[in-house]
Amino acid sequence: MIIEPRMRGFICLTSHPKGCEQNVKNQIKYVKSKGHIEGAKKVLVIGASTGFGLASRITSAFGSDAATIGIFFEKPPVEGRPGSPGWYNSAAFENEAHKAGLYAKSINGDAFSNEVKRQTLDLIKADLGQIDLIIYSLASPVRVHPVTGVLHRSVLKPIGTTYTNKTVDFHTGIVSEISIEPCQGDDIANTVAVMGGEDWAMWIDALKAENLLAKGATTVAYSYIGPSLTEAVYRKGTIGRAKDHLEATAFAITDSLKSIEGKAFVSVNKALVTQASSAIPVIPLYISLLYKIMKAEGIHEGCIEQIQRLYQDRLFTGKPIPTDDKGRIRIDDWEMRDDVQEKIATLWKQATTESLPEIGDLEGYRKDFLNLFGFEFEGVDYRADAEEMVSVSSIV
Ligand code: NAD
Ligand code: NA
Repeated sequence: MIIEPRMRGFICLTSHPKGCEQNVKNQIKYVKSKGHIEGAKKVLVIGASTGFGLASRITSAFGSDAATIGIFFEKPPVEGRPGSPGWYNSAAFENEAHKAGLYAKSINGDAFSNEVKRQTLDLIKADLGQIDLIIYSLASPVRVHPVTGVLHRSVLKPIGTTYTNKTVDFHTGIVSEISIEPCQGDDIANTVAVMGGEDWAMWIDALKAENLLAKGATTVAYSYIGPSLTEAVYRKGTIGRAKDHLEATAFAITDSLKSIEGKAFVSVNKALVTQASSAIPVIPLYISLLYKIMKAEGIHEGCIEQIQRLYQDRLFTGKPIPTDDKGRIRIDDWEMRDDVQEKIATLWKQATTESLPEIGDLEGYRKDFLNLFGFEFEGVDYRADAEEMVSVSSIV
């Protein structure tokens, strides 16, 4: 079967197994090129199949020779329909890890559920004993609460007033004005329930209760801040409330881990093209300007460069982990540099359908988006029959 990108709105319905494998191999190669990191050896990654979580798993395995357990929610391929990119990424990761002699197993299911937590605890008990690093990198639009059974849906909306700004449709390149109505009713509470810190704390409580955390265990969750341009819809919007909650949860978890000298951190990461971020209005325009400027300055990073730097320059230096005045690790430091943000603010005013191809990196955006699904990688023959990827026994 020849697999081509099939777009519907902001999503791509197909994904390419060979391209996803190439993506994973490229990330492994990058991590290896940066040398050994004296990091954690037994690592649990929740949200391990794409984006920052996949990069974290790869950095632990191929930077520190760690044994990894990955949790994710992906679709395996079935007759006539390709699997989701995260499934192919994980299959490729496990194959590469096993070839390198590294322990790697995965659980494909709902991380918010008691069942998947139970399965994970049992797997750790059976295979690894204790964990010393837990990366929490879930991005989900929904969560079924494991205690109440309520289905919460997160929304990406401003709070209080309508937000109006420019945006771009990165498929057509058309820049237009968009208005987003403020949230209503339980939107904030629902968004906090899905993307806040409650589930993170539940994971850590469950691991601690069964003595599965090593002394000095560290856990890290990912957050975002961004510029004032996107504040109303991001950091001061519904999703921002969830991130506030996530960040506050880090302190609560650290308190709960006193007896084992464990610590919880939030790392604030850079804006990048992911399935989630391309669905937020305004953000694609911001990212296309950001990419252009950061590439010109030689400071552009993707997920793997971000996470490799997080590990090497922040988490595992042998010194105390540097944080900002709110206790957060900042790996968005280059994105937030004054000179970078000042340039974006100027270009933002100039951005039109006509000027954007010149002043922004629409092409880079589009390529990164297609890369998420395994398309447009060098070294992959997309005209060849895409090999059926069979099930991988270490993914249950
Ligand atoms: P992503 O969509 O690439 O990854 C999400 C992961 O969560 C996948 O592995 C997916 O399988 C998993 N997942 C989703 N629902 C699940 C469920 N119910 N059970 C098990 N697994 C589930 O997202 P990402 O962009 O890498 O985001 C990860 C974190 O990083 C999020 O907290 C996000 O807010 C944060 N972040 C993202 C950006 C950005 O620009 N993309 C920037 C800074 C921080
Ligand atoms: Na992730």
